[in-house]
Amino acid sequence: MGKYPHYCVKALFFLCSCFHLGHAFRPTYVEEEAQGVRATLPGELKFVHVIFRHGDRMPVDPYPTDPWNNRKYWPTGWGQLTNRGKQQHYELGKWLRKRYSSLLDARYDREQVFVQSTDVDRTLMSAQSNLAGLYEPVGNDVWNPLIKWQPIPVHSVPEKDDPVLAAKAPCPAFDYYLENFKASAEFQAKWARYKDLFDYLGQNSGRPIKSFMDAQYFNNTLFIETLYNRTLPEWAQKVYGGADLTYVSNFAFSINTYTRQLARLKGGPLLKDVLTRLESKHKKQLSPDRSVFIYSAHDTTIANMLNTLKLFQLHSPPYTACIMFELRVDDNNRPLVSVFYKNTTAEPLPMYIPGCGVSCPLSKMYALYEDVLPENWTDECKRSTLTMTYEEANLGAATGILICIIAALLCVSYGLMIYYRRRDYNMHTSYAQMA
Ligand SMILES: *[C@@H]1O[C@H](CO)[C@@H](O)[C@H](O)[C@H]1NC(C)=O
Ligand SMILES: *[C@@H]1O[C@H](CO)[C@@H](O)[C@H](O)[C@H]1NC(C)=O
Ligand SMILES: *[C@@H]1O[C@H](CO)[C@@H](O)[C@H](O)[C@H]1NC(C)=O
Ligand SMILES: *[C@@H]1O[C@H](CO)[C@@H](O)[C@H](O)[C@H]1NC(C)=O
Repeated sequence: MGKYPHYCVKALFFLCSCFHLGHAFRPTYVEEEAQGVRATLPGELKFVHVIFRHGDRMPVDPYPTDPWNNRKYWPTGWGQLTNRGKQQHYELGKWLRKRYSSLLDARYDREQVFVQSTDVDRTLMSAQSNLAGLYEPVGNDVWNPLIKWQPIPVHSVPEKDDPVLAAKAPCPAFDYYLENFKASAEFQAKWARYKDLFDYLGQNSGRPIKSFMDAQYFNNTLFIETLYNRTLPEWAQKVYGGADLTYVSNFAFSINTYTRQLARLKGGPLLKDVLTRLESKHKKQLSPDRSVFIYSAHDTTIANMLNTLKLFQLHSPPYTACIMFELRVDDNNRPLVSVFYKNTTAEPLPMYIPGCGVSCPLSKMYALYEDVLPENWTDECKRSTLTMTYEEANLGAATGILICIIAALLCVSYGLMIYYRRRDYNMHTSYAQMA
């Protein structure tokens, strides 16, 4: 089945080239336009920070009544990257090579590029497939003429210790603000609007839908099964592809960054990481002085980042969706940032940064996003007792003890006061007697 799309693409490509016979091998109009826009961005390209989603994968966790809920239908295993996914990232790697050849020598050099992935099989494998496209061995790096591939390091941090890329490290303040948001009238109204859909899905799938995220996971399983030509049960066909299920799946991507407080704690660390790196690069403080950073992550990473930047339009980030932060420096040595989002095969256009434009001074980026750049994430994640409820803070017991202590202090000071008054009085009288 992996071969079909390949031939289809080739056939399509052939047909297209026939139509374009007059100017074969020229990029399409849209591509030219996009490259034109990129060429007119002021300054010289110095650095890029790339963040992408993994490629095509198997379902993560089918629902209990799923007729396709059997490992034998999904040979590479739950949630694993497929050959299609590898191919997609290999293509993206080739595209990145073309776009950033001014920043990267054809030969791999560790002083030019750094690659990090979340600690998940499919993102690690996507990064490696991507690098196969980005760095085909050339010259002295050819180590085995039969293998057009060379090993490139991909770094990773355990998910629970990774507040930046995986964004899964515990953060009690985030949990608290999220509960607050979920209790809001706006959220509750939305939940009520889709309650019937959720009940319907829960009853038929054998797994209750307790959150928008649950609905999104369910939609995602149906999405993959459809992609793999598996016939969906009739009850599922009635809702899959419909406006409601699509909307709730897309909406789920916005929840973790819905308010600026949430965005600060969920997306802020990654945005800060990127901006800080752009700044270090510009100040020549990066060591080694690399020009490309690549992060391999998830659809949630893409959605959280876009929403933290106020650039998210409700949608499900597709496989290999890719954000690029490009740093240019103009004639006055001013660092300028452009953000691109590539989520189709078309050449991406720079996004319009709200209040700044397609080429935004780095200092202005800091100012624009000050509200979502945590000063000390670890500290901000601790919940101050002010934001806690009575029971949560266990204030019941604490207050009791406090009241006892205050009462005791009051008694003691009252006692002391009386004692000193009396003594004072006695002393005064004795003085008087002496006089
Ligand atoms: C949900 O389904 C729609 C198709 O109706 C698809 O475009 C979208 O990517 C799916 N979202 C997820 C998260 O799978
Ligand atoms: C599903 O069917 C379509 C149309 O026949 C085909 O192009 C596609 O490659 C199939 N998908 C898979 C994963 O086999
Ligand atoms: C691509 O991104 C744009 C901008 O966020 C969005 O409006 C669109 O729906 C996305 N399309 C796909 C296929 O992801
Ligand atoms: C953040 O605050 C903690 C104390 O809560 C401190 O240990 C840590 O060094 C601080 N981190 C930074 C980057 O200042």
